[in-house]
Amino acid sequence: MAKATSKFFCKECGYESAKWLGQCPGCRAWNSFVEEPITPAAGSKPFSKNSSSRPTRQKPVLINEIELQKEDRIPTGFKELDRVLGGGIVVGSLVLLGGDPGIGKSTLLLEISRNLAAESKKSVLYVSGEESLKQIKMRAERIANITGDLKFMTETNIENIVETVREECPHFVVIDSIQTMYTDSVTAAPGSVSQVRESSAQLLRLAKENGIAIFIVGHVTKDGNVAGPKILEHMVDVVLYFEGESSGSLRIMHGQKNRFGSTNEIAVFEMDGDGLHEVTNPSELLLSGRPVGASGSVVSCGMEGTRPLLIEIQGLVVQSAFNLPRRTANGFDYNRLNMLIAIVERRLNLEIGKYDAYVNITGGLRIAEPSMDLGIVMALISSYMNIEVSDDIMVFGEVGLSGEVRAVSNAEQRIEEAIRLGFNKIVMPAYHLKRFNDRNLKDCQLIPVRNIREALQILKK
Ligand code: TYD
Ligand code: MG
Repeated sequence: MAKATSKFFCKECGYESAKWLGQCPGCRAWNSFVEEPITPAAGSKPFSKNSSSRPTRQKPVLINEIELQKEDRIPTGFKELDRVLGGGIVVGSLVLLGGDPGIGKSTLLLEISRNLAAESKKSVLYVSGEESLKQIKMRAERIANITGDLKFMTETNIENIVETVREECPHFVVIDSIQTMYTDSVTAAPGSVSQVRESSAQLLRLAKENGIAIFIVGHVTKDGNVAGPKILEHMVDVVLYFEGESSGSLRIMHGQKNRFGSTNEIAVFEMDGDGLHEVTNPSELLLSGRPVGASGSVVSCGMEGTRPLLIEIQGLVVQSAFNLPRRTANGFDYNRLNMLIAIVERRLNLEIGKYDAYVNITGGLRIAEPSMDLGIVMALISSYMNIEVSDDIMVFGEVGLSGEVRAVSNAEQRIEEAIRLGFNKIVMPAYHLKRFNDRNLKDCQLIPVRNIREALQILKK
């Protein structure tokens, strides 16, 4: 039988198959398979001329024989980002920074490079396969002056990059972006699954062998014809995702995987005319510009990782012009909104179901936490009845199908965050009250509620 010369790969997750499939068994994406020529077996081409194909044999060691060096981590100059990374960039690590195109990945990495060169006195090499040196210069001029050992290069061939890195020996390398890179050992086009995978494998070796920290940019692709960063997730040490509405100015950095720290941390950045700035007090920023004395606006507290964020929820309930009312949930689960409207209709006997209902979480955030339920219910009722919610009230709690208000996790942190920002009435699930009875809460009043009927009474007061 003739030997197959090509294989099919899923663009989303890298699933490999001998024949074309309509739906990927790995990630369930539809129409994501592309045909690519088969890569020669790994090792058939030596990594570079001066390294032998077989590495020297390593000896096993005991755990207490391993020495940890103090200087293992390099601070990025962004305190928030250091926390997400688990205390700074680890020497010899491979970090993937994923995100939608235009979200600010190149901007962030340029700023990190600037900080490393100027503040930490490290040598940095920024390799761009997407922009010309002129474009990089234009961006750099917006961001602030660049000093220190920071060099730029436009290159898309991985072998050339590896050679340059070996010559220059920088501490930190940026590859922007992996989808533009290609290696000679694979015949497929740049951005294809096998190119992305093979190029990254070479960068991984480069990072580990030379103790260089490498950041790789990976564009998240929806329907494009390039492979997404999911393919690389298992290869790299740290996976960071940069998210946010590109129309808004807030950007959130999540750790998706981290071999050197927790993945519960987030960092918040704000994009303005001169680059990205970290936001050390995101709640304050999110609540700025809140309307005063408007019905339908309620402050609630969601958790992003281990960090409480105070968020304004806006609800708008208006007479519907159609038989089938319109409902829109912006930043919140649409089906959950429908459920909450049904609960309000049934348990409070309010005929809210006939009305158009819109819910908006401000700041371009997406919160998928049930603790926002009570806030959403109150925003909807407040708008429906046209009663404003006093602006010193913060609300949180999950709402069940019988209209009961249920306990949520991290109540303590949510309350502390609200007190810190000067809220002095907190409407919360009654369950949490016993833990706070003897606590000094300054002049903050805790208002326990057991069901949404009790929450409605507070609104009417
Ligand atoms: P960029 O870093 O190029 O995004 P990515 O590399 O993720 O594709 O950021 C592009 C967007 O950021 C662009 O739409 C313009 C905006 N931007 C600012 O608003 N202010 C700035 O100072 C810079 C450099 C970019
Ligand atoms: Mg870019």
